[in-house]
Amino acid sequence: MTFSVLKCPNCGEEYNINRNKYTCDKCGNILDVYHYDMEYKTTSMKGVWKYKNMVHPEIPENKIVTRGEGDTYLYRSDRISEYTGINNIYMKHEGENPTGSFKDRGMTVAISEAMRLQFHKTLCASTGNTSAAAASYSALAGIESYVMIPGKNVSANKLFQAISYGANIVDIEGDFDNAMSGVKTAIERTKDFYVLNSLNPWRIEGQKTIIYEIMEKLKPDFISFPAGNLGNTSAFGKALMDLKALGVIDYVPKLIAIQAEGAAPFYEYIHDNRDHITPVKAETIATAIKIGNPVNYKKAKRSIEFTHGIVEKVSDNQIIEAKRAIDRAGIGCEPASAASIAGVLKLRQSGEIDRGDTVASILTGHLLKDVSMMPEYKPLKISDIF
Ligand code: F0G
Repeated sequence: MTFSVLKCPNCGEEYNINRNKYTCDKCGNILDVYHYDMEYKTTSMKGVWKYKNMVHPEIPENKIVTRGEGDTYLYRSDRISEYTGINNIYMKHEGENPTGSFKDRGMTVAISEAMRLQFHKTLCASTGNTSAAAASYSALAGIESYVMIPGKNVSANKLFQAISYGANIVDIEGDFDNAMSGVKTAIERTKDFYVLNSLNPWRIEGQKTIIYEIMEKLKPDFISFPAGNLGNTSAFGKALMDLKALGVIDYVPKLIAIQAEGAAPFYEYIHDNRDHITPVKAETIATAIKIGNPVNYKKAKRSIEFTHGIVEKVSDNQIIEAKRAIDRAGIGCEPASAASIAGVLKLRQSGEIDRGDTVASILTGHLLKDVSMMPEYKPLKISDIF
């Protein structure tokens, strides 16, 4: 039988999953969920919970709070192959999840866990997508949600979602990093809240399933994605470690974590081989990844090391250009998501990716998540078209 513990990736200390504290008492690191005697066994459920045995083996099926997330579409597009100069490039569209981003995959697991632990309130800081998912899944479970949002740095569409789903909105002066500090202070002072940021290791377990799904269908050389608070970077490496350890895959694709140039502390940390991350004042049009002090950087480093991966950064202009290409291909995504393709193009141009390589790029959020950058268009008159 598989069973799970919380385990410190740094010192190895283990804790029972029934405790609601996700940092190590001994060394302060963020804990992992660790599954003993894990087997690659899928269920008859769809999406995230198809992989229940590798995500949360012990939770009873009737306690799962789900909106049918996961099992997202993998696109191919001649236009994007032409744009990137890569024949075999695939885009996995996480914007097609119920609240329009990959966050739903982690949220179904974290909220199910909040219910198992009998919490009545949830809390998160967010650049928008986490708050939309947190608000939706909390409402579905019948519990109250509180979201700390840097109002001036969040797209109106995402805020609209959180408000509509009934979240209590805490407006934070400043940016995401200030909101994240607010969450950390709140959980030091009270035990009432179940925290839904990606420092919650159950979110990471849910997000691993993006990789499980990709590896069932493809044999990619590279997997690219935008990187902000580094939850996905952490989750994707962990998923590949699982598959390799279980003998499901016999090689490891390289992860490519892509940051915006004005919000690239992880890029600096890896490339300068620093001991600790140096926080920056984040600046980018891609508000979803406008994060200067990412919490998951140590787990993310483990992922890059395990996969011999790459950390790249792209300018706002490169993001805007890539977004235009993805939108015009008929697929569409929010600005931050386009970093996935912008980074691949940059690495193709520098020769790190070959034309013949197979690449899977993750589009993290839906086109309608952020309509602040209306593309230029020329309205026609009826008399112009016939
Ligand atoms: N793409 C989108 C659309 C996002 O919303 C986020 C993160 C990321 C990429 C980066 O993922 O944090 O795992 O490195 N959004 C968070 C939020 C921070 O609050 O919605 P990450």
